[in-house]
Amino acid sequence: MSEPLLKVENLKKYFPIKRSILETLRKAPVRYVKAVDGISFEIKRGEVLALIGESGCGKTTAGRTILRLIEPTDGRIIFDGVDITKLSREELRPFRRRMQIIFQDPYASLSPRMKIGDAIAHPLLVHGLADKEEAKELALKMLRRVGLTPEDEFYERYPHHLSGGQRQRVVIARAMILKPEFVVADEAVSMIDVSMRAAILDLLESFRKEYNMSQLFITHDIAVGKLIADRIAVMYLGKIVEIGPTGEVLKNPAHPYTMALIQAVPSIARKKKEKKIEITGEVPNAANPPSGCRFHPRCPLATEECKSKEPELIEISHEHFVACHHPLR
Ligand SMILES: Nc1ncnc2c1ncn2[C@@H]1O[C@H](COP(=O)(O)OP(=O)(O)O)[C@@H](O)[C@H]1O
Ligand SMILES: [Mg+2]
Repeated sequence: MSEPLLKVENLKKYFPIKRSILETLRKAPVRYVKAVDGISFEIKRGEVLALIGESGCGKTTAGRTILRLIEPTDGRIIFDGVDITKLSREELRPFRRRMQIIFQDPYASLSPRMKIGDAIAHPLLVHGLADKEEAKELALKMLRRVGLTPEDEFYERYPHHLSGGQRQRVVIARAMILKPEFVVADEAVSMIDVSMRAAILDLLESFRKEYNMSQLFITHDIAVGKLIADRIAVMYLGKIVEIGPTGEVLKNPAHPYTMALIQAVPSIARKKKEKKIEITGEVPNAANPPSGCRFHPRCPLATEECKSKEPELIEISHEHFVACHHPLR
């Protein structure tokens, strides 16, 4: 087997909670939001891993920490065999080109005062990969590649002339012009009109094939994960609770949380009669996570053990791992 392109080892990101004046005077200990609390996984070249979970589970923080857009609290990030966890800004520079991010909101991701053609050309200039003329040429080609034609007309337009779907094509073009080996797509289609989602996912898929590009595809929508991912990782309150090949996880979900996410989506819920796992309420506050298994207050199968003992990720079938004291079988 070839080495994975990306290895994440026990990654943590804690955000300190601002103390009140009274707490500061009392020298109360600083508390933390444990947004990402020790996650590990690998992504191979050309592979798409979907990171799935409800809002507030720590998906965005995980994606941004992996790219070193925010600093990890602990753990290691290894990219193409190099430990990038502690590289300086200067040392990180060559990796910045190889790792890109596509954000959720195509409206906020583009400068309103920059022509979209220039926005796409910009990264080439920043990384010194082309002069102005070459960069414009390549940007025009890229506009065509992402379906914004006639490209010379689109080049001159500003973001406010474009629909949400068109803007997301621009955002993708801007990331793809650097031919990244790895991209974090954070809810890349969540804010886009449903009618255009499939086309945007296809576009990302075409770049994966062309560049043999790996993706961490973050989504709260397990149906989107099914469409595009080779493997699925389910995250709950800063932890990965289940990870495995997409088909296997969807067919044989072992964690009650995964089962609940699947059953909530009629288009992918399985037909066969099975116990309905209903969860209520919201993800608890990450500043004060429940004891034992963090999912236990919402889990219909929870026992005393779940309240006191944190489950470890255990391999239950080939490359399929689950962290649960009572996995579904
Ligand atoms: N910059 C920040 N400072 C403090 N807390 C944060 C910050 N960013 C995210 N959080 C908290 O971390 C947790 C995870 O957030 P996030 O990574 O955005 O989750 P998701 O993307 O799964 O919705 C939430 O409790 C959120 O409030
Ligand atoms: Mg998010």
